[in-house]
Amino acid sequence: MSNNVLTFDEVSFSYKGKKKEKVTPILDQLSLSVQSGEFVSLLGPSGSGKSTIFRLITGLEQPTKGLISLYGEEEMKRLGKVGYMPQQDMLLDWRNILDNAFLPLEINGFTKKDRKEQVLQLLEEFGLKGHEYDYPHQLSGGMRQRVSFLRAMLGGGNLLLLDEPFSALDAVTRLSMQEWLLDQWEKLEKTVVFITHDVDEALFLSDRVFLFSQSPLSTFKEIQVPLPRPRKLEDLLSPELATIKSELLRELRQQVKL
Ligand SMILES: Nc1ncnc2c1ncn2[C@@H]1O[C@H](COP(=O)(O)OP(=O)(O)OP(=O)(O)O)[C@@H](O)[C@H]1O
Ligand SMILES: [Mg+2]
Repeated sequence: MSNNVLTFDEVSFSYKGKKKEKVTPILDQLSLSVQSGEFVSLLGPSGSGKSTIFRLITGLEQPTKGLISLYGEEEMKRLGKVGYMPQQDMLLDWRNILDNAFLPLEINGFTKKDRKEQVLQLLEEFGLKGHEYDYPHQLSGGMRQRVSFLRAMLGGGNLLLLDEPFSALDAVTRLSMQEWLLDQWEKLEKTVVFITHDVDEALFLSDRVFLFSQSPLSTFKEIQVPLPRPRKLEDLLSPELATIKSELLRELRQQVKL
């Protein structure tokens, strides 16, 4: 039996435009698979369709052609089956931080009494202690990102989709969040698909990096990261990694036509 948590089998997709408007394909027969317990990053130019891949996985969009399987089953009803942190946080302005974080548990039928302690403890771990009863507009960008991240962690299923989760963080906090994420990933045995524009971040975190370059997305270059785990940030300084990094940067730079 295959160990795949996620499979795209020749998936095509375009957003429906208004009548007569030209429809631009975003995905064209894209096939990929992610195995249980893997950490995979998606790298590619802005506007190429990375976030769209996540919207397809979560079931917010459906492919125009091809099949998406989750947890080994072809699955049309994918909503609520994965933990999803969207690129723009979707915190509910009228709910305080505790209630925002609690949302996925509530959807899955837990009462607040059941899990309040768990959520409060996580909020503390995420550096949000003291803000439990604040509202989203009272938080900084980085804090909102952490609430959104926490909410994705509490979402159902083994698969966690993180869309540029650390982009609003300062460099130092970002590094500690990366280490923290690897810790959580190992402890909770999650499967992670991670979108980033940061090559170092992708290499430090991932087992494999998928580098997209064509538009529409149809094939990609796959890079296996040859680092043992657990990893340290200094591992990125090895000559082998430096070579891989410069290749990735070169390919990415070729795609950006200024
Ligand atoms: N809801 C939508 N309706 C119509 N077109 C959309 C919609 N969302 C995205 N697009 C278009 O689809 C393309 C891919 O967008 P997507 O957000 O997936 O890119 P991305 O690779 O995540 O980019 P970035 O790195 O900037 O986040 C873009 O051209 C975008 O304009
Ligand atoms: Mg995006």
